[in-house]
Amino acid sequence: MKRIDLRSDAETMPTQEMLDAITKAKLGDAILGEDPTVIELERLASSILDMEDAMLTISGTMANQVAVMTMTERGQEVIMGKESHLYNLEVAGLAALSQVQARSVSVKQGLYDLNEIEESIQPAGIQTAKTGLICLENTYNLNEGSVVPLENMKEIRELANAYGVPIYLDGARLFNAAAYLNVQASAICKYVDAVQICLTKGLGCPVGSILLGSRPFIREAKKIRQRLGGGMRQAGIIAAPGIIALTKMTGQMKNDHKLARKLSDGLSTIQGIKLTSEQFQTNIVSIEIVKEGWNANQLVNELKSVNILVKKIGPKKIRMVTHHQIASKDIDDVLGYLTTILE
Ligand SMILES: Cc1ncc(COP(=O)(O)O)c(C=O)c1O
Repeated sequence: MKRIDLRSDAETMPTQEMLDAITKAKLGDAILGEDPTVIELERLASSILDMEDAMLTISGTMANQVAVMTMTERGQEVIMGKESHLYNLEVAGLAALSQVQARSVSVKQGLYDLNEIEESIQPAGIQTAKTGLICLENTYNLNEGSVVPLENMKEIRELANAYGVPIYLDGARLFNAAAYLNVQASAICKYVDAVQICLTKGLGCPVGSILLGSRPFIREAKKIRQRLGGGMRQAGIIAAPGIIALTKMTGQMKNDHKLARKLSDGLSTIQGIKLTSEQFQTNIVSIEIVKEGWNANQLVNELKSVNILVKKIGPKKIRMVTHHQIASKDIDDVLGYLTTILE
């Protein structure tokens, strides 16, 4: 049986076109600003997202950490959603690298609680740390892929302006959010000061993220990337598939979402499991196992035995993510097999 990898949209292999582009890429020293393919990718990203300048990084985690290091001062507080990647899955980089304190707020189905953000913003005081940054995430991930509505982004922007706090957006799956909202990705970016996109998620690249913001911000961010050892030499081999991702893969998102809907519709009819959300908006679907005597480890292993890979996200919870290497028939196969073993 064909391997069906639903663990993450980061598990894709580069397309043949990407591999060909890597071998043909024009290269130079990117630290010295001499790699033409990196320059082309950064310009392309700036123009698509309507941000002044851009910088290639090795990963989304590096882009996030460089952004916070660039936008904050040691001892400040940073507001972010409780389930955000920056808060949970970056090995306490906020504390270890930026030396800032995270203040988490609740986000329900992609909606940031405006009152909670306002209550969390604080000025510098004799006992309190000044809020230096608000970090948003869209799509809001950790196993849901919820979309932050444009209206919510706008309200947060207005609030941040009123208090003079900048906004950073972790847009690892920005194009998924844009596809769901049926807008250009730049319509989301206009509410933030800086943003990162991952080329490795739904866009299919093997490596790379892009951090974007104002020219002075990127100038500073480049120094910090270098300090972290993230300066790259002939990085055109990473940038070349990135150009294909931005020109040819962003249209793919709607199909990924359609497959995720097919998957969640099918899962909702299978006895022994239930969906963890009433509505999955993008390409991530999570389930809870309710069948007596079953847990996530068992189900993961059972599926693995027939070459279907899913991710355990809790003792009884599992996540599945659609992407361009998943076909409609794969979803039929997954649903068919789950029905056989659980019913
Ligand atoms: C929302 C979000 N931000 C950042 C990252 C980090 O990206 P990377 O794995 O490239 O470090 C991820 C990875 O899954 C993510 O989902």
